[in-house]
Amino acid sequence: MEIKQVKDIFAVDKSLTKHLWEYWQITQDNWLSPQSYWFVAFDGDDWIAYGAARVHDISKIYLGPTYVKEDYRGQGLQVKLIKRRIRLAKRLGHTRVISSTFTNNFPSINNLIECRFKMVKTWLSEPEPHTLYWERPVIGPSFFNWEKTV
Ligand SMILES: CC(C)(COP(=O)(O)OP(=O)(O)OC[C@H]1O[C@@H](n2cnc3c(N)ncnc32)[C@H](O)[C@@H]1OP(=O)(O)O)[C@@H](O)C(=O)NCCC(=O)NCCS
Repeated sequence: MEIKQVKDIFAVDKSLTKHLWEYWQITQDNWLSPQSYWFVAFDGDDWIAYGAARVHDISKIYLGPTYVKEDYRGQGLQVKLIKRRIRLAKRLGHTRVISSTFTNNFPSINNLIECRFKMVKTWLSEPEPHTLYWERPVIGPSFFNWEKTV
């Protein structure tokens, strides 16, 4: 398994393009801006998981759509993809990483807590229903150990 940073997510293959539309309604228009970054995990030539990040403002990066194919769940891929994007935030000079989950997405909630995110009040003027908001500093207590492991 290898995680690669991908410039054009829609160029990976047709099944991923179809999945992005069917699962999240993501199209070239709304997620191919220069402010969007994608990491894709591959098993050989096949994509098995991905995580996106988008610049939110000068200090923050938002961790967006993340998905692990069913056969590959339970192996810690989401955590690896979160760590990759925290490293990206550091490289780009941001100081904070933010994200959101549904209140019933226990795997994602546990993984954000494992990555030292803390629950925060929303940054939106109108919060989404059934949604939790998360934040952590880019350089937290565990950052330097991660650099060696992901
Ligand atoms: C949420 C998601 C990204 C977690 O990815 P992951 O890499 O499997 O995460 P983990 O390896 O930490 O597994 C999380 C938990 O799910 C369990 N799990 C869920 N489905 C599983 C499956 N099909 N096979 C094995 N384990 C599964 C694991 O046992 C694990 O629990 P544990 O920590 O107690 O062992 C993945 O389930 C997914 O893609 N879900 C659909 C999309 C989604 O919800 N995205 C996130 C939006 S915020």
